[in-house]
Amino acid sequence: MKVDDIRRSYTKDKLDLDKLNEDPISQFEGWLKDAIAAELPDPTAMCVASVDEHGQPSQRLVLLKDVSTEGFTFYTNLGSRKASELSANPKVCLHFPWHPLERQVIVYGTAERVPSSQVMKYFLSRPKESQLAAWASEQSRPVSTRQALMQKFAEIKHKFEHGEVPLPSFWGGFLVKPHKIEFWQGGEHRLHDRFMYNKQSDNSWNIDRLCP
Ligand SMILES: Cc1cc2nc3c(=O)[nH]c(=O)nc-3n(C[C@H](O)[C@H](O)[C@H](O)COP(=O)(O)O)c2cc1C
Repeated sequence: MKVDDIRRSYTKDKLDLDKLNEDPISQFEGWLKDAIAAELPDPTAMCVASVDEHGQPSQRLVLLKDVSTEGFTFYTNLGSRKASELSANPKVCLHFPWHPLERQVIVYGTAERVPSSQVMKYFLSRPKESQLAAWASEQSRPVSTRQALMQKFAEIKHKFEHGEVPLPSFWGGFLVKPHKIEFWQGGEHRLHDRFMYNKQSDNSWNIDRLCP
């Protein structure tokens, strides 16, 4: 397989300082709206990068469940690798890979746990099967066979047959509070447009154009 001549030109759009919103969250919401309108698969999927105690980074996709001036929220199993790593080292990087639109957004921030009232509200809004799956999966830990996983799911399904599925104590969310956000728009001849927002001590945002 030959991969070195796979390339394309980026010509869909241009980004300039006078087109940018001075607030990066408003800018992000505009781009998210574009990704949804363009019917990208999983437009809310974002890659979350964390680092372990040896400095080894790891990353995975999760779904964005809320964005506000506070930051970016996702939900997960608190025993998972990402949750353990973020609990020990809350420095985190998010990546939105909207490359069909020739765009990407990169968020640098700090992760903190979402309050349990908010986790509960979100958990109750999920389909029942997803709630049961959260109970059945010891996320990121080895499981002998798929059959063993399905057996556990069947047991949980039976256990919570009637009434509401309770929130597992090992399930929760993280709010990523940003201090830097980059917006990238692909440009002709690889001369892409990149703008980095940096949060200032008075909570305003400074914007720099970066070389591509
Ligand atoms: C499109 C997509 C969306 C996903 N959304 C979530 C999510 O919201 N929460 C989650 O815990 N895992 C989600 N996953 C699974 C994660 O990528 C990952 O496999 C899992 O969380 C375990 O990660 P870890 O072992 O690195 O902690 C998603 C996977 C994909 C491909």
